[in-house]
Amino acid sequence: MHEIEAAVIERAGVPTAVEDLLLDDPHPGEVLVRMTASGVCHSDLHVRDGDWERPGPIVMGHEGAGIIEAVGEGLDPGVVGRPVALSWYAPCLRCRQCQRGRQWLCTGSPSLRHAQVDGTTRLARADGSPVLAYCSIGTMSTRQVVPATAVVPMPDGVPPEVAALIGCGVSTGVGAVLKTAEVPAGSSVAVIGLGGVGLSCVMGAVLANAGRIVVVDTNRSKIDLAGTLGATHWVLADPADPAATIGGIREAAGEGGPDFVFEAIGLPQTIEQAISTLPPGGTAVLVGMTAFGETASFEGFPFVDGARRIIGSNYGSAAAALDFPRYAEWYLQGRLPVDRLIDRRLPLIELEDAFDRLRVGQAARQVVVFE
Ligand code: APR
Ligand code: ZN
Repeated sequence: MHEIEAAVIERAGVPTAVEDLLLDDPHPGEVLVRMTASGVCHSDLHVRDGDWERPGPIVMGHEGAGIIEAVGEGLDPGVVGRPVALSWYAPCLRCRQCQRGRQWLCTGSPSLRHAQVDGTTRLARADGSPVLAYCSIGTMSTRQVVPATAVVPMPDGVPPEVAALIGCGVSTGVGAVLKTAEVPAGSSVAVIGLGGVGLSCVMGAVLANAGRIVVVDTNRSKIDLAGTLGATHWVLADPADPAATIGGIREAAGEGGPDFVFEAIGLPQTIEQAISTLPPGGTAVLVGMTAFGETASFEGFPFVDGARRIIGSNYGSAAAALDFPRYAEWYLQGRLPVDRLIDRRLPLIELEDAFDRLRVGQAARQVVVFE
């Protein structure tokens, strides 16, 4: 049994509180991780603000990295001491989707229940009442027990903050471009929304050798940051004038609009804008997650007539064990400058303040660091 500190939310829609909890040792097939870093992603904010219903009480956080401290029965104890990145969707590796290599669609993942593979949790309050772990990894925590399939070893030299971001934002954005959309070299790309996910789409577009890379945000400082990552054109969005944003994106992309547009916010308005910028044959890739129940619309005839496409991209089609080490390697080679996304390091106790900055679009990527 371990005493840990973790950011707990009682239920979706209420503030988080840092609490002392008890953590059991890992059972067979589970791994005890001492957390080193946990990114603050908009998906955490969706839960915090009640956009997404989730069971509670639950330890927040799904973008994390740490060091293996112990393994449950049946796993190789030789891995103790290894730095790892954590996947927020632990695959079962047995269902049809996993067998097809589509682990992001796994139907048997314990992450769906925010618990371990057997459906129970290793976390409890002092009174013995159980506490869940968000996506089975609850990374806003000094230590955590996680399913073995969520754990991906990192090569030497990868900083904890970078490994954490590979666990969600980087894989989601880079993978949307390279894996889900398979953007061909020379294509024009637009990215709407430049948080950790959108900026990762920009890095993915650079890796794909895209032609023009048009970036769109309401916040000028985000556009400047995207420029240092390789964006070639920009549009400062005014939510009160969506037509101007659409026109701006089309003009900047050239040839009638972008071949691929990535929506990395999750608002109906920007989803509709993304679809409206498409030229014939163009593809809108929806990466941002909306609140539950939100809908967006588009005009049917020109969409079909112009053979346009809309595709959803979940977790950048990540197969963590395959892709995380690859993204880490690109970071080490200087081709995926993940560290430039990080604009604040904070202790766990300042998480609510980090959510306040994220809510108003001020943050690129904030990362909780543990000692
Ligand atoms: N037009 C253009 N940009 C906008 C608009 C708008 N109407 N509204 C917000 N933005 C910008 C913000 O200024 C910010 O830079 O969108 C960006 C969103 O970034 P974050 O809040 O940091 O979100 P991120 O963590 O990158 O996640 C984006 O992906 O995985 C999902 O759930 C996640 O839906 C979320 C999305
Ligand atoms: Zn995330």
